[in-house]
Amino acid sequence: MRPLSQLRHDSGACPWPFFKGNVSTRESVFGKVDKRNRVDTRIQLKAQPETKDPANYSVWEVLRNGTGVLIRAIRPDDKQRLTRHFEGLSEKSVYFRFFGIKRSLSDDELRRLTELDFVNHAGLAATVGVEAHERFVGVGRYIRTDNRPRAEVAFAVLDEYQGLGIGTLLLKHLATIARKNGISEFSADVLGANHQMLEVFANSGFVSHNSYENGVVHVSLNLGFQSAVN
Ligand SMILES: CC(C)(COP(=O)(O)OP(=O)(O)OC[C@H]1O[C@@H](n2cnc3c(N)ncnc32)[C@H](O)[C@@H]1OP(=O)(O)O)[C@@H](O)C(=O)NCCC(=O)NCCS
Repeated sequence: MRPLSQLRHDSGACPWPFFKGNVSTRESVFGKVDKRNRVDTRIQLKAQPETKDPANYSVWEVLRNGTGVLIRAIRPDDKQRLTRHFEGLSEKSVYFRFFGIKRSLSDDELRRLTELDFVNHAGLAATVGVEAHERFVGVGRYIRTDNRPRAEVAFAVLDEYQGLGIGTLLLKHLATIARKNGISEFSADVLGANHQMLEVFANSGFVSHNSYENGVVHVSLNLGFQSAVN
């Protein structure tokens, strides 16, 4: 695992020159920055993503350690990047994500996880590096399986990038796409031991309702949108 200080080098890939600027410059762009020069990812960004076409969703964000990441829509040509991301997860993270041991993603799974309609199934990746060097450090998706205004969400962030705000950012941007598609509620089944995921939901700002059964917390998040579909 690389120390956080080294992760900062990835921010060199980010085209925004003010990522490396002083606190006041960064505050004027992103909002609140704390004493350790970390951007609070819970603030509303002033740069808004393009939401007209969620399949082309793309927005730059800054993590708590100053690293710039691109949050972008997952595309059909991301199969290799998604495979590498999966292979980079620790056993514990895979267990938390898939509720079991899983060694690889099949071709069929890769197809289903990258060829998305961005209505009933939307997926976003947090990436560092550009072009041939671009790699996924976090992935989040929602899947709606019926015609109700509700979808299930799931996330997986590389272990060395956890705790930097990526899960929170992916949730926020997925909610933007979901609302556009008439989805007013996210749900997730989370292992009771997965405090980080539960913290992300609890701190998301969305009203949540939790129920607990057999070691699994069922979380429902109200996205604060009154859907016309019912
Ligand atoms: C769960 C997961 C997606 C969260 O993503 P992340 O990028 O680490 O989340 P964030 O950095 O946005 O937020 C983590 C929060 O958990 C808190 N946290 C970190 N470690 C924690 C711990 N051991 N116990 C409790 N809370 C913890 C952080 O303080 C932070 O809260 P804050 O916003 O109040 O500071 C990520 O850890 C992950 O991929 N885990 C493995 C796969 C998984 O569990 N997927 C979920 C399946 S639904």
